[in-house]
Amino acid sequence: MAGSAQHAQWSSRWAFIMAAVGSAVGLGNIWKFPYEAGEGGGGAFVILYLLFVLVIGVPCLVAELSLGRRGQKSPVMTMKSIAEEEGRSKLWGLLGWSGIIGAFIIISFYSLVGGWVLAYMVKAASGFAGLDAAASTETFLTFIADPVKPIIAHFCFMAITVGIVARGVQGGLEKAVTVLMPALFVILLLLVVYSGVTGEFTQALAFLFEPNFHALTGDKILNALGLSFFSLSLAMGSIMTYGSYLPKDVNIPKSAITIAAADSAVALMAGLAIFPIVFAYGLNPGGGGGLVFMTLPIAFGQMPLGIVVGTLFFALLAVAAITSSISLLEPGVSYIEERTGMDRKKVTAIIGLLAFLLGTLSSFGQPGNLLGDVHFFGGMSIMDVKDYLTNNIIMPVGAMFMMIFVGWFVSRKAMMDELAIEDRSFRIWYFLVRFICPVAIFAVFANIIYDTIIAPMMAG
Ligand code: PFF
Repeated sequence: MAGSAQHAQWSSRWAFIMAAVGSAVGLGNIWKFPYEAGEGGGGAFVILYLLFVLVIGVPCLVAELSLGRRGQKSPVMTMKSIAEEEGRSKLWGLLGWSGIIGAFIIISFYSLVGGWVLAYMVKAASGFAGLDAAASTETFLTFIADPVKPIIAHFCFMAITVGIVARGVQGGLEKAVTVLMPALFVILLLLVVYSGVTGEFTQALAFLFEPNFHALTGDKILNALGLSFFSLSLAMGSIMTYGSYLPKDVNIPKSAITIAAADSAVALMAGLAIFPIVFAYGLNPGGGGGLVFMTLPIAFGQMPLGIVVGTLFFALLAVAAITSSISLLEPGVSYIEERTGMDRKKVTAIIGLLAFLLGTLSSFGQPGNLLGDVHFFGGMSIMDVKDYLTNNIIMPVGAMFMMIFVGWFVSRKAMMDELAIEDRSFRIWYFLVRFICPVAIFAVFANIIYDTIIAPMMAG
């Protein structure tokens, strides 16, 4: 990208794809997808997740990129200016705001988990030799219960993110991403092969792909929906901002499909690397957010060259997380910069510091830590609350309104001009955006409201 000013552009379609894949592929694929699939009971959750990516995620990605390219500004101003252009209320700008606020909440805990990855990279460099399931679980739980170490790691991760965003997302990053993302892909492939050979591969395959739809409660369905948005970086303004840097001749739908395919492939590969180890060592697939940190180190401790492979894996995961976290910080920074004209470095540092401080609460709220006993709404930790609020409420609701805006409040002609695709593809996309996506998202919520409020009332 040629700079961070409003009309900056990606240097090529490939650079854009890499940056967008960089935003999409991150902790969501390698940390979150496996443990949520585990908690969701496997197969049915995974299939539903993939279906959501295809039927809701891709059309939404196309819509968000198109809005960004049309608006050419930060998310709030893009929404406002397109609404004005179409003679609609400026209140649509609120959708930009919900993205900025959601992204701020996400980065506060994303950076903490990014810090865990950095800490594990250091641990991996001294090796995990002889680590068994009990020891690996113990190592992780002791680490997250520490009041100081995770905070230092969280600070380092945030400082790196701030450092990059403050400089503007420049060519250097573009170049780094084009090399490092494929490298992560290769090492993940290596891990899949290793886990496949040494672990319980068939059991993992069955767990990940054999559907047991009875296990799917309304809440799990919402988790799968939220995860599909999280993983594709949707409705947070990130993709809209990246879209605003997009040259006119880039084909948005084709790009969206490439991004979603790469994103889903990485998530599935993470699952195939992790679950054979889970089953080989009798770990609990529903064990929660520590899954990747408790499983892979066991493999690194045993494989030849485990020190090199382990360190490299966590280093590349850190890079993948950083290319996502910069896209979480960018929308807020671009908005405040645009509105106040304040120095970009200052704005970035202030937002980064505030997000860091908010993130410390997520660390203190881990089991055994200073606020480990603080729970909300029947047992949720501070991090769980932030995660639920963003993934399961702000993202799906934001996406639903964005689809309603694009499908019903922006003229068909404007979208046709922006997409410039053949008529049949346009009609399919438009139908999904106008009807299927909003109705499907609404149905997922209606189902939860029925499960948690109406059904108990009727039973009582
Ligand atoms: N998509 C990123 C991941 O899967 O790790 C996380 C993310 C980035 C979510 C940017 C939302 C966002 F706007």
